[in-house]
Amino acid sequence: MALTKETTALYAGSFDPPTYGHLNIIERAAKIFPKLIVAIGSSADKKPILTCEERMELLRGICSGLQNVSIESYNGLTANFAMHQGASVLVRGVRNSNDWSYELAGATMNQKLVEDLETIIIPANQSYCHISSSLVRELTSHGGDISSLVPPLVRQKITDKFT
Ligand code: COA
Repeated sequence: MALTKETTALYAGSFDPPTYGHLNIIERAAKIFPKLIVAIGSSADKKPILTCEERMELLRGICSGLQNVSIESYNGLTANFAMHQGASVLVRGVRNSNDWSYELAGATMNQKLVEDLETIIIPANQSYCHISSSLVRELTSHGGDISSLVPPLVRQKITDKFT
């Protein structure tokens, strides 16, 4: 696969909420690919605390400085959504060996679903390897400080949810 001016990559996730870890992957992927779609998908075993619209609003806010990034949402398979959007690359962030095994299986499956779809793994920056959205939710629910984990806009929204 060669990059062209039109190459579109898709970074899909739950983003409940988006964290500095996600933002770091978005910023780095936006430097590599001419177009990056950040999209909220749904996972069968997750019950989000933020609505899809709230998560989209947060993503729009934190990505507002990135001209080649657009925010979307979808239902169904990520590989199908990528195909419909004309995305030839799936971007995934990996924080540790557990993520790696999971992503390897996902990449294999997604390529079986859509043959030309490549998964590009971006290793998480070491400063963000400990962050997950559930950690952010857990800390917030107990009144913990999440300012080093999420951008201020997200902190405000998630704190409001728990008060
Ligand atoms: N920095 C910080 N946190 C990160 C991260 C990073 N770089 N990369 C992942 N995470 C965390 C997330 O915060 C999230 O934490 P949580 O579980 O505590 O909430 C966790 O890793 C998982 O990330 P998430 O964004 O929820 O991705 P996911 O792997 O659960 O995938 C979808 C979400 C929507 C992309 C996935 O479920 C999907 O593709 N659904 C559609 C159906 C489908 O196509 N399934 C795959 C078939 S092969």
